Amino acid sequence: MKERQRFAMARQGVASSMFAMALLLGIIASAPQSVDSLGVCYGMSGSDLPPASTVVRMFKSNGIKAMRLYAPDKAALEALNGTSIGVLVGAPNDVLSNLTSKKAAASWVRDNIQAYPSVKFLYIAVGNEVAGKPADLLAPAMENVHAALAAAKLGHIQVTTSVSQAIVGVCNQPSAANFTKEAQVFMGPVLKFLACTGAPLMANIYPYFTYAYNPGDMDIRYALFTAPATVVKDGKYNYQNLFDTTIDAFYEAMSKLGVSNVSVLVSETGWPTGGGKAATPENAKVYNENLIKHIRGGTPRHPDAIKTYLFSMFNENQKPKGVEQNWGLFYPNKKPVYKISLDVTPDPDSPAPAPGPESPAAAPHSY
Ligand SMILES: *[C@@H]1O[C@H](CO)[C@@H](O)[C@H](O)[C@H]1NC(C)=O
Ligand SMILES: *[C@@H]1O[C@H](CO)[C@@H](O)[C@H](O)[C@H]1NC(C)=O
Ligand SMILES: *[C@@H]1O[C@H](CO)[C@@H](O)[C@H](O)[C@H]1NC(C)=O
Ligand SMILES: *[C@@H]1O[C@H](CO)[C@@H](O)[C@H](O)[C@H]1NC(C)=O
Repeated sequence: MKERQRFAMARQGVASSMFAMALLLGIIASAPQSVDSLGVCYGMSGSDLPPASTVVRMFKSNGIKAMRLYAPDKAALEALNGTSIGVLVGAPNDVLSNLTSKKAAASWVRDNIQAYPSVKFLYIAVGNEVAGKPADLLAPAMENVHAALAAAKLGHIQVTTSVSQAIVGVCNQPSAANFTKEAQVFMGPVLKFLACTGAPLMANIYPYFTYAYNPGDMDIRYALFTAPATVVKDGKYNYQNLFDTTIDAFYEAMSKLGVSNVSVLVSETGWPTGGGKAATPENAKVYNENLIKHIRGGTPRHPDAIKTYLFSMFNENQKPKGVEQNWGLFYPNKKPVYKISLDVTPDPDSPAPAPGPESPAAAPHSY
């Protein structure tokens, strides 16, 4: 997450009065489920976090199937070796310029990916929320990493980048979305690469910040997946939560650049439990539980399961003071901040769970 860019998208004016719109006929779709649809981000900006081997055990015992690492941390990758946890690993912003050299990209892949043959790498995110001039390096760096992986017979690992939601200027409706002028410059080549290779675009999606930046603009239920009816009508599409609206804004912005076959993967989303407006364990539980139930069914424009990484595993005391430090599912002492079940192992024979924040959640294991 990068503070600076987040708020640019926060100007969505959603009239609360729209809640008065007629109730839709509810149809509970039984959408396909995917084992790897839910991951958790393992941020390490904390002085008091447990060792990586313990963290990997926590992922396993909580049934979490995928992990986002922001950098190829040696201890974490060693702990992941031989596990079935899918890994999204970052090539951090400070190596971006190096990766524009083919040779440096090959050695980055050798040292950080090939060195761990029993880690189940799924994706490499080259850069996180890169903005300004360095963003022009994204596409060339991604191409070099992709070529280095292919040369190492690791072409199944997809290469992409993780972008801020602030690069899409959205008004109320996805149909009105466009990438910002600045973002259009680098997103052209990035999307061309993604369309060619079939990799998804990763986006950090924060209904929380859109809400918290201007709480008067919307009913919080639109951000928490608890709106009782359609909030935003966009042509034939009806939006009942801001998560979907934001993802579909990305799809619309991509299609305005002529790209309609790249999917969006949510590389961060979540809700904080302290230090900010509406930041409470109760709201975080409601948001994350509803999110987990929701992602299987996709968005109005793209009704396929949305691969999603929850932000974040731990509260991180080396982040800026305030809300930034309070996104964890767990305290550094391994105790859960609130009770939530993260195990989304598909059970195709059971009916879709009833919507609403009140469904029972299993207690995570404690240590
Ligand atoms: C990784 O795990 C495999 C078994 O899955 C094992 O053969 C190998 O020695 C391990 N490598 C490291 C570096 O721990
Ligand atoms: C970039 O590459 C140079 C030369 O190979 C190397 O010395 C430097 O450590 C690299 N920088 C990073 C951040 O990896
Ligand atoms: C969106 O961006 C495209 C590509 O630059 C441009 O042609 C179009 O006019 C923009 N649309 C809006 C509504 O701003
Ligand atoms: C996406 O569309 C482009 C342009 O039509 C095409 O070249 C590319 O192969 C397609 N990619 C995938 C993954 O289908």
